[in-house]
Amino acid sequence: MATDDQIILARTHLASARNVTVLTGAGISADSGVPTFRGADGLWRTYRAEDLATPEAFARDPRLVWEWYNWRRELITTKSPNPAHDTLVELEQRWTDRMWLITQNVDGLHRTAGSQRLSEIHGNIWKVRCTGCGVISENREIPLPILPTCRLCHALLRPHIVWFGESLWEEDLRRCDEALRACDLFLVIGTSGVVYPAAGFASVAKEVGALVIEINLESTPQSNLVDLSLRGRAKDLVPLLL
Ligand code: OAD
Repeated sequence: MATDDQIILARTHLASARNVTVLTGAGISADSGVPTFRGADGLWRTYRAEDLATPEAFARDPRLVWEWYNWRRELITTKSPNPAHDTLVELEQRWTDRMWLITQNVDGLHRTAGSQRLSEIHGNIWKVRCTGCGVISENREIPLPILPTCRLCHALLRPHIVWFGESLWEEDLRRCDEALRACDLFLVIGTSGVVYPAAGFASVAKEVGALVIEINLESTPQSNLVDLSLRGRAKDLVPLLL
């Protein structure tokens, strides 16, 4: 577990940082009751990503893919942001235009908490995209009809999520690169650090001379590279940084 000295050090670094960029992963939402992907109770222990989170899986069996997303939407709608999400909102309010949040989470909990300066680089489970006309819209209907279709052109809708084998959106990549190059403190919270490009962001931040702090229950492939690695729950540790 993180020691008091480590927490004081992290807090001092944050207090003196000019530009802060934060990367979050499933671990921050785990404290709200949203399942992570890897680890003992992770979704990828029970389900195969190849069957549910690839463009090929959707082409093969859109019904199965939508049923899975519908189930996750039903689960996530019962969850609320926790103190770690709330602290990042406070960080944004204090640092204003000198803070940027990058999240891999699709649950929308950062937005619900009130974060506005963020890139949801893997998409958002509350958005759908038309496979015909490409229009993206917010959709909070639960359950969604299976199969859901576009109001405009009647083609099949898909979740607005970046699946395995798909590239991140150009605009998000550009914004992340900008935020990584601008920051002097990079805070990485609750990600296993194995899915690229996000897994490479700590190295980019180090290259530009930023100090990197990691908060995670366990060690990750990035733990040796970071300047300070705090072990513990996001909901307990993140609020202590401010
Ligand atoms: P993972 O499930 O791979 O990793 C979750 C990380 O959070 C692990 O390192 C845990 O040790 C840590 N963790 C768990 N509970 C925690 C807590 N309470 N406090 C702090 N840390 C905790 O999730 P991600 O790294 O986010 O892609 O996964 C990356 C991507 O892989 C996801 O965005 C998803 C998945 O396939 C898409 O949805 C497109």
